Amino acid sequence: MSPYWMDARSNSAFLFAFLIISSFPSTFADLSDPCPNFANLSTAWTNTRGEWVNSSDWALVKPILLSPGETSGPGFLCGFHCHYESFLCLFAILIFQDVYSPQLVWSANRNRPVRFNATLRLTEDGNLILADADGTFVWSTNTAGKSVSGLNLTETGNLVLLDRNNEMVWQSFDHPTDSLVLQQKLVRGKKLISSVSASNWTHGLFSLSITNYGFDAYIQSNPPQLYYEWEYSFLTSIQYTNGNLSVYYRWEDEEFNFTPFAPIPRTLSAQYMRLGSDGHLRVFQWQETGWQEAVDLTDEFLTECDYPLACGKYGICSAGQCTCPGASDNGTIYFRPINERQTNLGCSAITPISCQLSQYHSLLELQNTSYSTFQVDMQSTDVEICKQTCLKNCSCKAALFRHPSNHSSGDCCLLSDVFTLQNMETLNPTDYFSTSLFLKVENSPTENVVEKKAGNARIILGSSLGALFGVLILIGAFIFLFWKRRDSKEAEEDHLDCIPGMPTRFSFEDLKAITENFSCKLGEGGFGSVFQGTLSNGIKVAVKQLEGLGQVKKSFLAEVETIGSVHHVNLVRLIGFCAEKSHRLLVYECMCNGSLDKWIFHGNRDLALGWQSRRKIILDIAKGLSYLHEDCRQKIFHLDIKPQNILLDEDFNAKVSDFGLSKLIDKDQSQVVTRMRGTPGYLAPEWLTSIITEKVDVYSFGVVVLEILCGRKNLDRSQTEEDMHLLGIFKRKAEENRLADIIDKCSEDMQLHGADVVEMMKVGGWCLQSDFARRPSMSVVVKVLEGLVDIEDNLEYSFSYSPRPPKIAGMGNKAADAATAEPIPSALSGPR
Ligand SMILES: *[C@@H]1O[C@H](CO)[C@@H](O)[C@H](O)[C@H]1NC(C)=O
Ligand SMILES: *[C@@H]1O[C@H](CO)[C@@H](O)[C@H](O)[C@H]1NC(C)=O
Ligand SMILES: *[C@@H]1O[C@H](CO)[C@@H](O)[C@H](O)[C@H]1NC(C)=O
Ligand SMILES: *[C@@H]1O[C@H](CO)[C@@H](O)[C@H](O)[C@H]1NC(C)=O
Ligand SMILES: *[C@@H]1O[C@H](CO)[C@@H](O)[C@H](O)[C@H]1NC(C)=O
Ligand SMILES: *[C@@H]1O[C@H](CO)[C@@H](O)[C@H](O)[C@H]1NC(C)=O
Ligand SMILES: *[C@@H]1O[C@H](CO)[C@@H](O)[C@H](O)[C@H]1NC(C)=O
Ligand SMILES: *[C@@H]1O[C@H](CO)[C@@H](O)[C@H](O)[C@H]1NC(C)=O
Ligand SMILES: *[C@@H]1O[C@H](CO)[C@@H](O)[C@H](O)[C@H]1NC(C)=O
Ligand SMILES: *[C@@H]1O[C@H](CO)[C@@H](O)[C@H](O)[C@H]1NC(C)=O
Repeated sequence: MSPYWMDARSNSAFLFAFLIISSFPSTFADLSDPCPNFANLSTAWTNTRGEWVNSSDWALVKPILLSPGETSGPGFLCGFHCHYESFLCLFAILIFQDVYSPQLVWSANRNRPVRFNATLRLTEDGNLILADADGTFVWSTNTAGKSVSGLNLTETGNLVLLDRNNEMVWQSFDHPTDSLVLQQKLVRGKKLISSVSASNWTHGLFSLSITNYGFDAYIQSNPPQLYYEWEYSFLTSIQYTNGNLSVYYRWEDEEFNFTPFAPIPRTLSAQYMRLGSDGHLRVFQWQETGWQEAVDLTDEFLTECDYPLACGKYGICSAGQCTCPGASDNGTIYFRPINERQTNLGCSAITPISCQLSQYHSLLELQNTSYSTFQVDMQSTDVEICKQTCLKNCSCKAALFRHPSNHSSGDCCLLSDVFTLQNMETLNPTDYFSTSLFLKVENSPTENVVEKKAGNARIILGSSLGALFGVLILIGAFIFLFWKRRDSKEAEEDHLDCIPGMPTRFSFEDLKAITENFSCKLGEGGFGSVFQGTLSNGIKVAVKQLEGLGQVKKSFLAEVETIGSVHHVNLVRLIGFCAEKSHRLLVYECMCNGSLDKWIFHGNRDLALGWQSRRKIILDIAKGLSYLHEDCRQKIFHLDIKPQNILLDEDFNAKVSDFGLSKLIDKDQSQVVTRMRGTPGYLAPEWLTSIITEKVDVYSFGVVVLEILCGRKNLDRSQTEEDMHLLGIFKRKAEENRLADIIDKCSEDMQLHGADVVEMMKVGGWCLQSDFARRPSMSVVVKVLEGLVDIEDNLEYSFSYSPRPPKIAGMGNKAADAATAEPIPSALSGPR
């Protein structure tokens, strides 16, 4: 199937021809093939291609019925209204002045647009049914058996089903969407609901409904938050004039009736009212060349900062300027702008609130800040109870407490969504009430680590500016390619396709075929599951399906770029990837001997690896890590070195896998960014106290070296308390000078090479130094292993292995215990 934009182009050529042939009709009524204003039973219309009218730059219209009346607008038509790029269509009513101007004023089921070949049928039994191209039911008037005789589009833009006596059985005016036209009434129990945007007609966040004293406008939340109330006393009859534009309203029997009560000139009568996707209620009027905003009804009483999305979620609005909530008393910053350049998009929590971590929740009081709504949830209470109630309920995201200035008891309002906040300066300072506002925030015990780490990242980045410059040029090239292809909706996913030497892009369908529908699972890790697959050329691959990354498309591609550009014989090669909808998969070369843990922890004499194999594996890992740390374009910290992440090929060459994934996971907004990561037992002590450097990988490497030499896991719960920790035994034996005792007893060959093994253990010991500055770099380790450098003397053997698995920050002890068996996905990456 060709992409939409190609369809659009070929179609536009056709349309161009069509317009010339029909000698540029100025209204729909002038079309060469005029439409009726009524239809009999048993009529069907298909949303065929090629019978379109180019109505504007972004919409195409296929008329079905045209309202009777003047030949030159204004008028109404009903038909299929399609988005220009997506070719998603609605069965709709449009108000128009000429062919270029139709505006959507009603539609059938706008949450479910249809495609080409969708059909609208007025059945024999009088039901009007819309079905998509594949026959899926989309909408109907539910009027079967009500003696319907036909369908008319009236002069006022009302689509009606009439019975034999010309009585109305169904009318579109009773089912308003986001707009009202003249003569259409909004009655009690009906709502206007905004659309997501001008080009996405799905139900948006705002709604407007009639009350018994006027109308209320809400933004969707649980419960909906009121942002505008209009009392009928203001509305009984009202006229707005704006230059030559006049708008009239009448309030009538608890109905909001958008009706002119004085006759207005026909040329000025093309008007409609719309609840916009920004929450404004506006009236539009045709003026000479286009639709113009005649009046903004909500603006009459609201300031720019009163709109709930003026500064997005969590944004603070002050005279139209947007900022994010500032630091708390102790200097912690909890919010940052979603987009630095577009501050009106709102702010996001640096540590998103997670219901599982309620012990880390606290309330951040914002000074001199108010909120547009106050629905009383608890009356005559005090501020502490109000705050505690919010802290106890995970769906509460903020608490407002309002009390008379001279009184401590007052009302409490709990918010489940925090929309735009307002700086108090924009409010009346003589308010009788004083209101306190508390935002729920999440503290993470590792926040300090992260902040310092960020500083460190800057230093490292600074020192590799040269490398960065190269990267920037590359990024520039990508951006160029990206813009060149931005016509395509999928462009952002595509820009890797054309970089030579980059991993292949697979479709999800491809990968389904390659893995035989993900039938053979090789394993499961913290990042997701790994499946076996075979490429069409017979090459075996491992397909890793990443979890929880659905939203992060751009960063995913950036990381694929990084991972894909890293080539080293001791690093598992990335062959391809898939980024499609919410699927994120990586395709690696298959390492047929699996992961190292299977070869060192099995306790089986027959399968035990000999000394040379183990020595080679240790050297391979060291080379791979050394390359990641020192020789890549960007410095890469692995952060999760353990035997499960070391893979062996058919010749027992070891390759490091899963590098770069920790950073990938970090990008995921839904993860707790500041969570300490790694696998208990392999975590360097500085994780808890200070700056993270590449030496955390050196530490984990040290643990792996001992595990390889001793043939047992660092943490083995089947042992006695005294022997549970390999590092504990290692320390004891080193002090007793009896390291040979702990060499893997499964292998005679290892026993035979006792002296070499003990030397290698000292390399491990060096890597395990508590003071990370004393650990060697990976390149030094490689030199030691190659015999070019000696091991440092007087090593410190008082390893700070934790007697119990460390409490993983932000996960609680229960999770940490479970994690000793199951690896924990990375959520915090090191600077690159
Ligand atoms: C549709 O008409 C508008 C207004 O004349 C024009 O700018 C636009 O290019 C036309 N589009 C197509 C596809 O013909
Ligand atoms: C509708 O039905 C009437 C009577 O059966 C017929 O005269 C008329 O031509 C039909 N109109 C259309 C548009 O089919
Ligand atoms: C619509 O139907 C026609 C005829 O059945 C078919 O040729 C065409 O491919 C269909 N178009 C789409 C977009 O499904
Ligand atoms: C509907 O259209 C038919 C055919 O033009 C017409 O006879 C009838 O009066 C119309 N009814 C209404 C209510 O407009
Ligand atoms: C329209 O918006 C809704 C809600 O935000 C979203 O789920 C949907 O994918 C959007 N549709 C299109 C065609 O962009
Ligand atoms: C208002 O109407 C007068 C006379 O009809 C015309 O001269 C003037 O240009 C109009 N003003 C605007 C702003 O359209
Ligand atoms: C700031 O204070 C909050 C509670 O008032 C506390 O939970 C958090 O850990 C503190 N942050 C720092 C960086 O001290
Ligand atoms: C809040 O407003 C008061 C009075 O205008 C002012 O003195 C105080 O400094 C403000 N507080 C903050 C945090 O801006
Ligand atoms: C928590 O708050 C939500 C929304 O404010 C409310 O619907 C729910 O009943 C509350 N739950 C409890 C246990 O109070
Ligand atoms: C608070 O002030 C209001 C008006 O200024 C007054 O009517 C009320 O009695 C006061 N309440 C207290 C507890 O002082």
